[in-house]
Amino acid sequence: MIKHLLSIDQLSPSQIELVLKTADSFREVGTRTIKKVPILRGRTVCNLFFEPSTRTRISFELAAKRLSADVISFTGDAKSSLSKGESFKDTAQTLQAMGVDAIVVRHSSAGAPHRLSRWVEASVINAGDGAHEHPTQALLDLYTIREHFPTFDGLRVGIVGDILHSRVARSDAAALIKMGSQVTLVGPPTLIPPAIEGWGTEVSYDLEEVLPKLDVVYLLRVQKERQNEQLVPSLREYATFWGLDRRRVDLMKPEAVIMHPGPMNRGVEIAADVADLERSIIVDQVTNGVAVRMSLLYLMLGAGDRTPEEVPVG
Ligand code: CP
Repeated sequence: MIKHLLSIDQLSPSQIELVLKTADSFREVGTRTIKKVPILRGRTVCNLFFEPSTRTRISFELAAKRLSADVISFTGDAKSSLSKGESFKDTAQTLQAMGVDAIVVRHSSAGAPHRLSRWVEASVINAGDGAHEHPTQALLDLYTIREHFPTFDGLRVGIVGDILHSRVARSDAAALIKMGSQVTLVGPPTLIPPAIEGWGTEVSYDLEEVLPKLDVVYLLRVQKERQNEQLVPSLREYATFWGLDRRRVDLMKPEAVIMHPGPMNRGVEIAADVADLERSIIVDQVTNGVAVRMSLLYLMLGAGDRTPEEVPVG
């Protein structure tokens, strides 16, 4: 298995399959009364988060603890020496000097995990870097899609909304295309990146025309913090033209599912009642995030390319 996970491009389709297959075992661990296995006993995982996070930070922490690793959580806030001017590099080397085995990093700058991986011996996992990538989100999304469809091959997935600022869109589109799915990016022209040719996706500016063709409708968060760029006239206008409401859900295939990476803006990109429909599998994405991150930590720190069945654990 790879040492660092910085981009979804690093994983071959067979490595992605291995991560998903291994996650099946850990999904089962999450259903037990005692949700813990001793696989990473004695290893240390550091969560280094310079940007807000609920799902990714907590699920990595839970994943590491369920594997019996020691976990340090570090946020670049007023309580750390970053507030005294310590650099990112010195912070990284300080963690390395304490002997951490893996650093899970979220940073507002694209490329920060790549830089970190050159400074430390530990494995580095990208938990979201600027508008660049969020590879573990892509893996948990593939896992969740796989629970509903027998194959990725030929599956039609629409990623809807603020593609321009979305690291999730980049990682998910790349992962899905790698696995044989057809991806359409859907949104207002101002929120579609200008250089989209290399993505291998289709583009549509007409949500209602695309909806009946999709197996998966993947909604992106409208990044309210970027509204000062005036890329959409208002959130109300966005909801009117691009939000998924009940009327638009009725245009979808009966078996099609709705996904969202969270956090959601109910009433903007997704109507409040639509988020709670049975075909909205957003809570499953969160549940699966723990198992998929356990699988990754296990494969990267513990087992190479061997599944839990092949590695006897005490
Ligand atoms: N999906 C996701 O990255 O959520 P958080 O920002 O809460 O981690």
